[in-house]
Amino acid sequence: MTTAIKQLDDLRAKALKGGGADRIQKQHDKGKLSARERVDVLLDKGSFTELDMFVQHRSNDFGMEKNRILTDGVVTGYGSIDGRQVVVFSQDFTIFGGSLSEAFAEKICKVMDMALKLGIPIIGLNDSGGARIQEGVVSLGGYADIFLKNTLASGVVPQISAILGPCAGGAVYSPAITDFVFMAKNTSHMFVTGPNVVKTVTHEEVSMENLGGAETHSSKSGVAHFAFENEVEVLQNIRRLLSYLPLNNLDEPPVCEYADPTKKSQEKLDGFVPENPNKPYDMHKVVNIIADKDSFFEVHSEFAKNIIVGFARIGGRSVGIVANQPAHLAGVLDIDSSVKGARFVRFCDAFNIPIITFEDVPGFLPGTEQEWRGIIKNGAKLLYAFAEATVPKLTVITRKAYGGAYDVMSSKHIRGDLNFAWPSAEIAVMGPKGAVEIIFKTQIEKAKDPHRETEKLIVEYKKKFANPYVAAERGYIDDVIKPHETRSRLMAGLKLLETKVDSNPKKKHGNIPL
Ligand code: HXC
Repeated sequence: MTTAIKQLDDLRAKALKGGGADRIQKQHDKGKLSARERVDVLLDKGSFTELDMFVQHRSNDFGMEKNRILTDGVVTGYGSIDGRQVVVFSQDFTIFGGSLSEAFAEKICKVMDMALKLGIPIIGLNDSGGARIQEGVVSLGGYADIFLKNTLASGVVPQISAILGPCAGGAVYSPAITDFVFMAKNTSHMFVTGPNVVKTVTHEEVSMENLGGAETHSSKSGVAHFAFENEVEVLQNIRRLLSYLPLNNLDEPPVCEYADPTKKSQEKLDGFVPENPNKPYDMHKVVNIIADKDSFFEVHSEFAKNIIVGFARIGGRSVGIVANQPAHLAGVLDIDSSVKGARFVRFCDAFNIPIITFEDVPGFLPGTEQEWRGIIKNGAKLLYAFAEATVPKLTVITRKAYGGAYDVMSSKHIRGDLNFAWPSAEIAVMGPKGAVEIIFKTQIEKAKDPHRETEKLIVEYKKKFANPYVAAERGYIDDVIKPHETRSRLMAGLKLLETKVDSNPKKKHGNIPL
């Protein structure tokens, strides 16, 4: 072996050690993997190719000139997931606490540029003490360079963030711009200011976990789309998520093998919706029966549970599911569910994933809390997202489609391509009781027995309006179908819509009500 090759081997070996065995052990003791171990779990075995292993920081302040470490605290490169290429960066907490220097930021920007040029997803594994304090504003500039690239890549290639340690201060805004944020329970934290600052400013006492842990962000704030028990589960589920997605906005999602379900399994749907309109049922079950077996992958499962969103396959094709959940708050639309639905719809539209909407919605949630926090502008986000989406849009009204929510939930009027209703559908301005109490107020007041009169009027109203046929008469829904026919009708619809071309007027960008 030549001396030059030996030198290369030595440098490589040195880089692979990261911050050293002791610091890696500390990671393990905390239940965390090292930056390189994470990349190995994430990517297909042996597929990772590292770039910029020899990069070191250029700082000469605070004695840093005596402390230069290969990689400078972030492992970057490319590899494959299920045979498809992705770029990855993995912050190495064992080197300067994974803090971001000028050189560190340049490495991340380089692989992001590469991903944009090649049209392949970007996966960021975050575990960092934030801006490299010794570098000052240069480090802040590095963050801003990444934020800009995140923004420019948005809607062009899928961007996925895993939070696997600290992620604090302005550093949170890179993951926040990306499409999906994964967190590992108990070992990852995201916040703009940590518990100490919170205590000083607001006098609140709060733990790291409660302030910015995985459960907080996946259920309360909605910042995280997924929370898993440990890092391995996070990394495996990033692989799963990618299996539904195209590589970029000009690519199509992968098509998979599937097995036809039995007729019997679909017939379960025929008696599924309770006759009593106030009785809930679990829309997850409807989705799981109709979609290919075990294909439903829920996003944001713990946040705003009154709407369900996630990816599934129908006949092997990727679809985005948006479904009201009658089993939670009666499936009402409120601020959180509208924002959750809107962001998901926009992701699907950006990445050519057809949207299937299952609708059972009593309307928007009334009350001062919602009005004062802006249900008007937030509900409008979901309306806007569905209206601007040009991917194939298929809607199935299972029961209630009342009021403005009927329009919002991918109705025909906002370019739904195929809109079906089950015979149990009730498509009207409002529910029967509320409706008759308004339009027959005087008649009810004058009646000998107001209760009986109301009941009689409800029956009449139901016959006239609380059914799918008034809408069907006008073509607002394309067909009334038996529940067990839904899967086959959706499969045929997806096939039909494969050649769909639709577009929006040319503009710089719209102005979604943020
Ligand atoms: C330089 C850092 C660092 C940082 C940690 N280290 N954070 N070095 N810049 N930001 C170094 C430590 O000096 C230490 O080095 C090693 O990383 C491990 O850190 P520990 O503190 O020993 O680890 P731990 O006890 O696990 O605590 C982790 C931590 C803590 C909670 C992240 O290190 C911490 O509070 N760091 C500072 C966080 C912070 O305030 N960052 C700036 C946020 S503002 P040695 O050599 O001793 O092992 C920000 C702005 C972004 O990031 C702006 C974007 C616009």
